[in-house]
Amino acid sequence: MSDELYTAVDSYLDELFGGPDRVLAATLERSAAAGMPQIAVSPNLGRFLHVLALARGARSILEIGTLAGYSAIWLARALPADGRLISLERDPKHAEVARQNIAEAGLSDRVEVRVGRGLELLDELRDEGAGPFDMVFIDADKAPYTEYFHSALRLARPGTLIVADNVVREGRVALGPGDDEAVTGVQRFNAALAADERVAAAIVQQVGAKGHDGMAFAVVRAAAGANGGS
Ligand code: SAH
Ligand code: DHB
Ligand code: MG
Repeated sequence: MSDELYTAVDSYLDELFGGPDRVLAATLERSAAAGMPQIAVSPNLGRFLHVLALARGARSILEIGTLAGYSAIWLARALPADGRLISLERDPKHAEVARQNIAEAGLSDRVEVRVGRGLELLDELRDEGAGPFDMVFIDADKAPYTEYFHSALRLARPGTLIVADNVVREGRVALGPGDDEAVTGVQRFNAALAADERVAAAIVQQVGAKGHDGMAFAVVRAAAGANGGS
């Protein structure tokens, strides 16, 4: 199997569902025009996040790592009219492009982009009494993924779905310790997730237009003492 074939299948699947709509295409175009890294989730994984949010019946979603708002739009489209997505982004330029994309998507009424360092913003959310969130999507810098996970648990309740992107990193997670802090960050996260009895979790590897990577999925258990712990 080649990367070319994975990409062809990703295109096939995307086209099967009608391909990108005007809003999502414009979102990626504005992000490219702004010179931002093209590291949004793939169309099919965006669609998957949307389906997960619907399956969860999510009314409140927290995202860590907005970029240009591509995944935020997929997620927010699953919210009811009075639902809410808060997305955290360190780079003010990314946040500005994201806000524009979210406005063009007609979702400004339910999406808030907050600018700052993820861990600090998460502490602020906790201090404000925000949450509990029905779903959390972790997709910012990889080194503190474990800390994002623990912060997410503090903003969660039983049934909360926590998803984390990029936890396989072209398979490098399986190759033992190295000196890439993104890889060691997700290795540490994967181990913490697998060992945490407060959640039922699985990690799934994926191939496609964005290469070989994976997502982690965790549901906070009823007996987890969520909101109190970690
Ligand atoms: N979820 C997006 C992609 C996010 S890319 C999508 O799929 O469409 C990762 C983003 O996290 C980048 O925009 C980067 O600026 C941001 N980021 C990196 N470190 C961060 C930090 N410490 N706190 C908040 N955001 C951060
Ligand atoms: C990177 C970050 C991401 O969130 C992603 O989906 C792909 C790549 C990166 O920092 O390289
Ligand atoms: Mg990612």
